Amino acid sequence: MLPQWIIEKKRDGSELDTPEIREFIEGYTKGDIPDYQMAALAMAIYFNGMTPRETADLTHAMMHSGQVINPDAIPGTKVDKHSTGGIGDKISIPLAPLVAASGATVPMISGRGLGITGGTLDKLEAIPGYRTNLTQTQFFQTLEAVGCSMIGQTPEIAPADKKLYALRDVTATVPSIPLIVSSIMSKKLAEGIDALVLDVKCGSGAFMKNIDDARALAQALVDTGKAMGKKVTALITDMNQPLGRNVGNALEIRESLQILNGKGPADSQRLTLELAKQMLHVAEIHDLGKGIRNPEDKIKAPALHLKDGSAMQKFKQMVSLHGGDLSTALPEAENQIELPAPRSGYISECNAEAIGRAALLLGAGRTKTTDTIDPAVGISNLRKIGEPIEKGQALCTIHSNSRENTERLFQLLETAFSISPSPRIPPPLILETIT
Ligand code: URA
Repeated sequence: MLPQWIIEKKRDGSELDTPEIREFIEGYTKGDIPDYQMAALAMAIYFNGMTPRETADLTHAMMHSGQVINPDAIPGTKVDKHSTGGIGDKISIPLAPLVAASGATVPMISGRGLGITGGTLDKLEAIPGYRTNLTQTQFFQTLEAVGCSMIGQTPEIAPADKKLYALRDVTATVPSIPLIVSSIMSKKLAEGIDALVLDVKCGSGAFMKNIDDARALAQALVDTGKAMGKKVTALITDMNQPLGRNVGNALEIRESLQILNGKGPADSQRLTLELAKQMLHVAEIHDLGKGIRNPEDKIKAPALHLKDGSAMQKFKQMVSLHGGDLSTALPEAENQIELPAPRSGYISECNAEAIGRAALLLGAGRTKTTDTIDPAVGISNLRKIGEPIEKGQALCTIHSNSRENTERLFQLLETAFSISPSPRIPPPLILETIT
């Protein structure tokens, strides 16, 4: 079938059949179908949507556009987590070793930050020497030895998504549920996992600004995962204020180390433990005791693996096998400036989007994929909603390596915080669970 006939069919609101979707994605991956025809189909999907069956077919076609890791090549039950992205979301970093310490195997292929949301790979690369581009053999060896490994998307994994994501970025077709679902799930399912937990962020610092949109995305992700034979659960979690107290790459590694030490901000700790529980549940390790990587491992609650240092030990082993050196100091910015509160009261808003924009302005993120980032900069000691504050006390600490844009930065951060005379109850962290 000619590509234009498939575009026409979707443009006119009809359902595409399985071979049409497969042919189109195969043609696009090989370069036989040009970007302009793929862009036209993406726009037709953006306007007319896809049925759950079409979304699953698109995911399947994109997943099989490259290599799909054979799950039998990796020991134990393989489970992963994916976050749709937020501000201060460093949870993957303590979570993967925690779940590995709890007996599952976590083959995690992560992404880089783009725009205001950070990326796990950029955070990990703040650790001196950490390599995110292991060969597949090294990836398998790390999984075998430690139980978790965190790498970047290789050229072999879901190449159709790599091409299509860049195209969507410049054709205004990113915010489409079937396109987001197939993009996320094709990469995750190519990792050879048995089960997956999704953290769908909702709020000012997230893709999905309101609960209805977040719920629709979470449900579509879960349905597609299930249609492809995987055990999948999604949590919808708050992203109206940043997660934890630190935003910025090295600063988020510091907070991750606190969590692995059984400390750290209450919200980051709680979400790490909740996601760990969900991952162990979908992996059926804690419920049925099956699939444990090392039969010697004792089944314990995840919190105990933070307390007894076993999760930290896994993290150190993983970092070392990735070439990282935790004995070398993390990068630190030249200037550390406190932002004083203009009045006394209670924090009633700490706007995630504004904090994300400020971190971007400092150089912690990128506006284009080719931008370089500064791992040392960011914002720490963020005050959270509901906390009391006295006039002149710090609302946060700015870590900067440049005096440029200082006025704009202060403006942004000042507007991020609101202070009210009476306490505001903090918003719930976990809004819904979709199974
Ligand atoms: N993350 C992805 O990997 N793909 C999308 O389309 C959106 C977020």
